[in-house]
Amino acid sequence: MTAVYYEGGGTFTVGSSEPVPPGPGEVRLDVAYCGVCGTDLHIAHGAMDQRVPTPMVIGHEMSGTVAEVGDGVEGFRPGDAVVVRPLDTREPTPADRGFSHIGRKLKFIGIDSPGALQASWTVPAFTLHRLPPGLDLRLAALAEPLAVACHDVRRGEVAAGETAVVIGGGPIGTLIALVARARGARVLIVEPDETRRGLAADLGIAAYEPDELDVLAETDGVGAEVVFEVSGSAPGILAATKHAAIRGRVVVVAIFPEPKPVALFDLFWKELDVRGARVYEPEDFDAAIELLGATSLGLERIITAVEPLQRVPDIFAELSSGRPAMKILVDCRA
Ligand SMILES: NC(=O)c1ccc[n+]([C@@H]2O[C@H](COP(=O)([O-])OP(=O)(O)OC[C@H]3O[C@@H](n4cnc5c(N)ncnc54)[C@H](O)[C@@H]3O)[C@@H](O)[C@H]2O)c1
Ligand SMILES: [Zn+2]
Repeated sequence: MTAVYYEGGGTFTVGSSEPVPPGPGEVRLDVAYCGVCGTDLHIAHGAMDQRVPTPMVIGHEMSGTVAEVGDGVEGFRPGDAVVVRPLDTREPTPADRGFSHIGRKLKFIGIDSPGALQASWTVPAFTLHRLPPGLDLRLAALAEPLAVACHDVRRGEVAAGETAVVIGGGPIGTLIALVARARGARVLIVEPDETRRGLAADLGIAAYEPDELDVLAETDGVGAEVVFEVSGSAPGILAATKHAAIRGRVVVVAIFPEPKPVALFDLFWKELDVRGARVYEPEDFDAAIELLGATSLGLERIITAVEPLQRVPDIFAELSSGRPAMKILVDCRA
């Protein structure tokens, strides 16, 4: 069966993998589709070579069906359509304080251990979420990034009637915007890229260039009850506190590898709450799967292209040289 291996140093090879029989508590999946995300691209740039064992299959935004179940697995049968919540939480520590999704010894499946860019994938059964019958498996491959968005919106406590500003209209920001809107918020996206602003507009979400949004003018002088920083940029985190209303919430979703200046005066003056949001908990996957069935969301427009597994090395090369894309799905079916 076809598999794509990350070899380190920014190189991928297309090879084959033997299906791994599921051990106790495990399931073997036939992978249908696997999305490519910013983290995968980061790996492809060699930036995570210290962490990713090689050679290894990466990929964590997948959909598929159960092929085989190991001993002791209950509730799943061959043929069931599923997605994987790619968090290995099998080493909880007291320091986690019960938050196993961000635990000290958390391992991310598809980064720290083999992932889904292959036709056959064996994973612990506790990572599975069942899909409703008839759900398009291409859409279902968006469950993981959509679960990120559901977690972010939950951390932001977005309520109906509130204004939410999303800074950064990439895949994650756009999904946050769609989820926040589904929760009844009025959503404004800030995004410098014209094509991405165009997609937001197609989805019915107002999109602005970074210096264009006058949030006070848009909200009768109130500001945004919640702001999501999803750009990872220095101007983005400065704008986030500026756009927030009195006693508003600022949710930091983007990864800032280096410290950036934050306008602490805004936190003090408006009594702002700043919260981090990292990956997801099981209930966020459940919420994402529920939203996947809602045709009104327009999620299919996030998918830029569906390409064969053999093209993965080229896809990473193209994305690295600026191919415009929101979400590329890889067809992993044998
Ligand atoms: N919290 C989590 O668990 C989690 C999960 C997935 C991704 N992330 C992070 O979320 C961020 C977004 O992910 P993505 O895949 O959408 O990335 P992306 O790079 O595709 O999107 C970021 C967007 O921000 C825009 N941007 C740049 N400068 C800006 C500015 N000044 N104002 C507004 N927008 C600006 C870019 O044009 C781009 O479209 C990344 O930092 C990623 O690492 C976090
Ligand atoms: Zn991802």
